[in-house]
Amino acid sequence: MKLHILKNDDLIAESVAKIFIDKVRENPSAVLGFATGATPIKTYKQIIRFYNEEKISFNNITTFNLDEYCKLPKDDKNSYYSFMHEQLFNFLDLKEKNIFFLNGNAENMAEECRHYQNKIATVGGIDIQLLGIGRNGHIGFNEPGDVFLKDAHEVRLTQSTINANSKYFTKNMMPNSALTMGIGDIMSAKKVILIATGKEKADAIYRMTSNKISPLCPASVLQFHQNAEVFCDEAAAEFLSNEI
Ligand code: PGA
Repeated sequence: MKLHILKNDDLIAESVAKIFIDKVRENPSAVLGFATGATPIKTYKQIIRFYNEEKISFNNITTFNLDEYCKLPKDDKNSYYSFMHEQLFNFLDLKEKNIFFLNGNAENMAEECRHYQNKIATVGGIDIQLLGIGRNGHIGFNEPGDVFLKDAHEVRLTQSTINANSKYFTKNMMPNSALTMGIGDIMSAKKVILIATGKEKADAIYRMTSNKISPLCPASVLQFHQNAEVFCDEAAAEFLSNEI
């Protein structure tokens, strides 16, 4: 796991966006995994900027998102489908048929999760998966628990996650469950990039990078990934010693 501590979130956004753009330039049919939340918004703005300035086409790119709420209409303003379109997809020349989300309104959630994993496998796996990190160390919606859950699954959200995300739900109640890629799905990505900014992530970053790999801090599993890069600003890196 490679750790980059940058001065601020603008520098992180630019560096991470460049990695995505370089991948698209190198492989115009690449498969990209995206994440929602406040953290990646600046990175998405930078991807859009590079896309416009450098005239790079996403027309043959395929995307998969990490997770989606259950029982929230796809076009609700708080769905991750809406978020990704508003923050990134509407500004690129992606084909809608190449954009994939877990369907949190599926009749059979287990079947939907298997279907999603099969789809990822059919296109040859994810080339770069972007991740944020929850204050409790979650990645996607893989919440702290007794074991690492390998496969995509339905999850009951923890109170910490509900507290962090409920501010976005002004009209409807925030759903208390979601579908998420599993830890195995994330670890299968050829490259993983995790971004953490702000002091409220400092404890999670400390726990994920300290020696102990534990499902109590799901992000710590990335220590096993052969090509994982963590980008932190100085506030999120506050508890790290220089040797890491
Ligand atoms: P945030 O969420 O970017 O809104 O902090 C990150 C996450 O929960 O993975």
